Amino acid sequence: MSVIPNSVHARDIASIVHPQTNLAKHREVGPLVITGGEGSRIFDDGGKDYIESVAGLWCASLGFQQERLAKVAYEQMRTLGYYHSYRHRSNEPNVDLAEKLLAIAPVPMSKVLFQCSGSEANDTAIKLIWYYHNAIGKPEKRKIIARSMGYHGSTAAAVSLSGKPDMHADFGLPFEPFRHTEFPHYYRRHEDGESEEAFSTRMAEALEALILEEGPETVGGFFAEPVMGAGGAVLPPATYFEKIQAVLKKYEILFVADEVICGFGRTGEMWGSTTYNLEPDMISSAKALSAAMQPISALMINEKVYQAMLAQSGKLGPFAHGYTYAGHPVASAVALEVLKIYEEMDVVGRVKALSPTFMAALEAHGDHPLIGDIRGTGLICGIELMRDGPGRVPFEAELKVAERFQENALKNGLIPRAVGDRLVFAPPLIITEAEIAEMSDRFGRALDDTWAEIR
Ligand SMILES: Cc1ncc(COP(=O)(O)O)c(C=O)c1O
Repeated sequence: MSVIPNSVHARDIASIVHPQTNLAKHREVGPLVITGGEGSRIFDDGGKDYIESVAGLWCASLGFQQERLAKVAYEQMRTLGYYHSYRHRSNEPNVDLAEKLLAIAPVPMSKVLFQCSGSEANDTAIKLIWYYHNAIGKPEKRKIIARSMGYHGSTAAAVSLSGKPDMHADFGLPFEPFRHTEFPHYYRRHEDGESEEAFSTRMAEALEALILEEGPETVGGFFAEPVMGAGGAVLPPATYFEKIQAVLKKYEILFVADEVICGFGRTGEMWGSTTYNLEPDMISSAKALSAAMQPISALMINEKVYQAMLAQSGKLGPFAHGYTYAGHPVASAVALEVLKIYEEMDVVGRVKALSPTFMAALEAHGDHPLIGDIRGTGLICGIELMRDGPGRVPFEAELKVAERFQENALKNGLIPRAVGDRLVFAPPLIITEAEIAEMSDRFGRALDDTWAEIR
């Protein structure tokens, strides 16, 4: 594609470094410029429409434009467009939002800390694990374990927690106190004949072995997404969390559930923690919290963590942590309205009711020669592109199947997301049955076009 001088494309290339983008390729192909949205669709500057199969970055739960939220933001800016929450300052939308979150938390939670992104929520949780253990007289419990291929954000600490090697390469990361345990991807990683339950036992044994190797007195925290998102929409195998949580309890390790993708209905319950019976000490949330219309995240902490922090005030004075925009009144007002909309639309009921249609629309392609495995829950699904599904034989890397698929998806009006040779689907929670049918048609055409290229 040639880039027209002085176009938005040319100006973009000249002025912006894009995240998660090949910088050299970007200079050749330029950006896909998005100009608007409607329901689960977005439009580019040529007027072409695309069904967004991953809700942007798993976040635009209510689609891509919302008059009602615009009005709330406008009204809030007219009365109080900014104030911070440092040094005892507060604002009512922020208090209302905190109360609401505590009321709908999946397990009893005591307090909320606000930030602007999922990464910052997890960064904060990392710091609180350290602060907590200092407070209770166990400062050596500094190591934090997460999973290979887990994703928890891009800040220096949150990405250290993440288990994605491509995000560590040449950044000199992960930082020292972070460790990674097994990627619990049953389909790809089970041994022949191994049941999901046996696989989960092996995963929990691997976690325990790592803890013992490091020294349990040095391990302070464990992070997990209920369903692993950026690792490929990977569902936990049966009995996985039950067994993992038993290990964490045994060694007094704080458990942080990263609900940044799963929170607010995605898995067919309000929280992934409810879907999979998690009992975390802290919960990080973001994305659908504001339907992605404002940058806001919330970290909930339980009473045990809060009491330890409270005791620190006697020793240290103020809780020495915070962000300029934490507890932002506009972001809080918008998030509060989003939670109202979820109640009105019965977001959990809607996702539960729509899930069979969504899964059936994707499973209809199960016999396609490119597809090896399909697993999902609620409105999230992961699909393996495999040469031989039952035999678990992947395509040769040089075929670049996922890359070809992504190009064909765009041509067919579908915004795709691939993780290696795994395709992920997590559309807006407002997606309609008609849009699901259209998504499935476009998906089918993209699969056929890709197969025609490589067969
Ligand atoms: C599970 C999970 N945690 C944290 C993050 C980081 O959130 P943010 O990009 O808002 O910093 C993401 C982003 O995709 C995520 O999927």
